[in-house]
Amino acid sequence: MLIRAIPRFKPSLSCDELFTVFRQTFNDTAFSDLRVSYFETEFAKFIGASSAIAVPSARMGLSLALSALGLEKGAEILLPSLTFFSIPAMIAYMGFVPVFIDIEPTTYLLDLDQAERRITPKTRAIIPTHLYGQPVNMDHVLDIADRHGLIVIEDCAQSCGARFKGKRTGSFGDIGYFTFGPTKPFTTLGGGMITCKDPKVAEKIRAAMHDFTPLGRVDVLKAAVKGAAMKMATNRSLFGSFLWPALRVFRVFGKDPIEESFREPVKPITGIPAHYFRRLTSVQSDVGASQLQRIDRLSAIRHRNGKYLAERLLGTHDLIVPTVNEDAEHIFTSFVVQTSDRQYLSRELLRMGVDTATGYMSACSDLEMFRDYRTECPNASLAIANMLHLPVYHTLGIKELEYIVSSVKKALDVT
Ligand SMILES: Cc1ncc(COP(=O)(O)O)c(C=O)c1O
Repeated sequence: MLIRAIPRFKPSLSCDELFTVFRQTFNDTAFSDLRVSYFETEFAKFIGASSAIAVPSARMGLSLALSALGLEKGAEILLPSLTFFSIPAMIAYMGFVPVFIDIEPTTYLLDLDQAERRITPKTRAIIPTHLYGQPVNMDHVLDIADRHGLIVIEDCAQSCGARFKGKRTGSFGDIGYFTFGPTKPFTTLGGGMITCKDPKVAEKIRAAMHDFTPLGRVDVLKAAVKGAAMKMATNRSLFGSFLWPALRVFRVFGKDPIEESFREPVKPITGIPAHYFRRLTSVQSDVGASQLQRIDRLSAIRHRNGKYLAERLLGTHDLIVPTVNEDAEHIFTSFVVQTSDRQYLSRELLRMGVDTATGYMSACSDLEMFRDYRTECPNASLAIANMLHLPVYHTLGIKELEYIVSSVKKALDVT
């Protein structure tokens, strides 16, 4: 039985990349860090950064960078309220103060005027988060940073390859951090990277990485098996025949097993777990180097898809569509809309065969774990309550996009 159903997500890993990993199962050098420096060099060239250093994750990259930068305890760091909780959690764990800034309501990006108003004599750094693949206005960020003597740390976890005025995110600030998990449009089956301007800071970070050991063979293979399973599960006919009907049953009980299996528990960092001290392996670097060859092609398709959806859905009753800033090349890692009853919209869309997600960001200024840093960020709070991610990935063609648009309009009764 082949049912027309569109999964929420499609991994960017190719079959060749998966075979590259499996083929090298018994090759010891594949699980050493021998070829990591080649990938670091290629990545730095791609971003246009002076240097790039492979790190275990974005949060560990941030932690290593904050240590290397030598900020004093109690230093304030400005960042958007709408972000992944592990970033302010790491800032707080390290003894710094996360200062939450509200977002602009339709770009989901840091409100830079508000950020400037919140600067105090203790403010040392600003984190522009290029959320959902859209670059923050980096002219404005650099201007604020210059005038107030702030360090700029770009959060590029969702913007690998995106450009502002032709320059890639991660090449503007003092530091940029990236994450390469299996659900990201650019993936090495785990791990991350930081880009760094100052060679002395880069040297300190490299030195700190010396004690880290490459990720184990079993961990890499497990990630590859998970990647292969995701590829299969999101195959259109398999998804339509098995996963989609199952998701509909789960939805009756208010459950979303996909979201639940990927969601990391939102809790404070109280110590750095042992598995955070792992380095990328050679075989993951091979996957990364291969992905660099086609990242721009995949980003261009998502950019086209995102623009198509935004244009066609604009003006739909009870729907806020994302806006794209001038000079920003949005790579639509996610296409996020807001509506007053997202449960209703997602249920109706699922019934019509369009799978959606609520995502894993938080309005961090509202979280109990950040009560000491609480502040009002109404746009972030509203976005978190109302947001829904529509499919936008690189394998969707115009026919599917048209179907998504007409389904949304039908659900919201404005055909
Ligand atoms: C915007 C953003 N920042 C930071 C992170 C944290 O990345 P990591 O899990 O590698 O620490 C994520 C994770 O996806 C993210 O989406």
